[in-house]
Amino acid sequence: MLKKAITFDYNNILEERIGSPVGIDYEELISYKKKSLEIHTLLSSKREKGSLPFYELPYQADEVSAVKKTADSLKDEMGKRFENLLVIGIGGSSLGGIALLKALTHPFYNELPQTARKTPRVYYAENIDPDEIKGLFDILDPEKTVINIISKSGTTAEPMANFLLLQKFLSEKIGDDNFNRRVVATTDADQGTLREIANAQGWRTLKVPEGIGGRFSVLSPVGLFPAYIAGIDTDALLEGAALMDSVCSTQDFLKNPAYINAVIHYHLHTRKGVNMAVLMPYSTALGEISGWYRQLLAESLGKKYGLTGEVVYAGQTPIKSVGAVDQHSQIQLYREGPFDKIITVLGVENFNNFLNIPSMYTQYEGLSYLGGHTLNELFEVEKKATILALVKSGRPNIEIALPEINPYTIGQLLYMYEVQTVFAGHLYSINSLDQPGVEAGKQYTYGMLGRDGFEEKKKEVEQFPAKDKKYIL
Ligand code: PA5
Repeated sequence: MLKKAITFDYNNILEERIGSPVGIDYEELISYKKKSLEIHTLLSSKREKGSLPFYELPYQADEVSAVKKTADSLKDEMGKRFENLLVIGIGGSSLGGIALLKALTHPFYNELPQTARKTPRVYYAENIDPDEIKGLFDILDPEKTVINIISKSGTTAEPMANFLLLQKFLSEKIGDDNFNRRVVATTDADQGTLREIANAQGWRTLKVPEGIGGRFSVLSPVGLFPAYIAGIDTDALLEGAALMDSVCSTQDFLKNPAYINAVIHYHLHTRKGVNMAVLMPYSTALGEISGWYRQLLAESLGKKYGLTGEVVYAGQTPIKSVGAVDQHSQIQLYREGPFDKIITVLGVENFNNFLNIPSMYTQYEGLSYLGGHTLNELFEVEKKATILALVKSGRPNIEIALPEINPYTIGQLLYMYEVQTVFAGHLYSINSLDQPGVEAGKQYTYGMLGRDGFEEKKKEVEQFPAKDKKYIL
């Protein structure tokens, strides 16, 4: 594993390079010096007081050892019968783990034969789509499946409904005792319905550390347990995060990738109308990092109210995109549509594999130029070409380069984005750690399903004016 630092390049947001209405003058950037220092001081003091515990996740030896012990005890007890891990969770309880698995395991991990894979297959049940959940019944051998139910609150409707269905399906086949031995519940240490049930049933449990919201929990047992089961080097992941912690402790925002990235996005959004932030990895494996980032940004920064209660409607719209696939889908818009996007390109310097494109059909001019090059070269050249094309059309873009996709670099990337997000929250003067907009939908759901205490919500739904049929075709 190449243990090198990722690099952050923001040349292409500068007016002098992209020469467009949304280019930033260096002086404009410098004007954030005082504000950045204030935020740095505030974050440092909050961290010291323990009110931003996600910062400490790279150093939680107890949590890491609990993850390993739990996984190893399951392996010892079940031996070769431990073929599948089914993770049930949604939002912050699933997106980080999915991103880790996609980035750091074989691209067709679950399909590999057991002899090549060596570790259990990992599936995620996120949605409450009856066809998808029934599909799991069709492929999971109850004898050979472990369930990791993840819910910090322990009451979220989607994972809990899925869990109930899976429990019924599995325990009918293998009995309650066997089922109970195959459950790991990752939830709050002391409270919540899931914690109570887990304790009563004697399930194995892991903690969502106190004060860590779902979208900041990827480096806690929420993301670490499935990753460890899949054979990912979780120590190197946390080491990478710790490296980024030291980089992001730099108070000079011009030398701190998380701070400068927050400033660039904030400035483009609030001063230049750039209200969308695209994350475009040139790597299929990093595609789900964009999915994780999308939630991190959307739930953290998309806020109606500022810290003092004023209406602000903050937040850029995050967009998930993957190179080179989206060159044939989105790039037309990014280059020629409105000046409302900043594009971050994630590049990979060294892939695990190196593939020579065969020289064939050389008599055809339209194909002959490919032979003799590598697929790696083609990918790199396409990335460079896209960046140049964006610059030529005056579109601000940032390049983050990973020397290699490995746990060490992924740990750095995830940690950088988390620090960037809380820093950005202070630029917007909003609370980046809550999600009141998500709660409203949850409460209507509870009301409509008749949950005690949500009668008012039920009434609100019932009293809402019916739709006019004339607009339904
Ligand atoms: O980031 C968040 O806080 C949310 O996306 C939650 O993770 C999500 O709503 C699931 O919540 P819970 O883990 O309580 O089931």
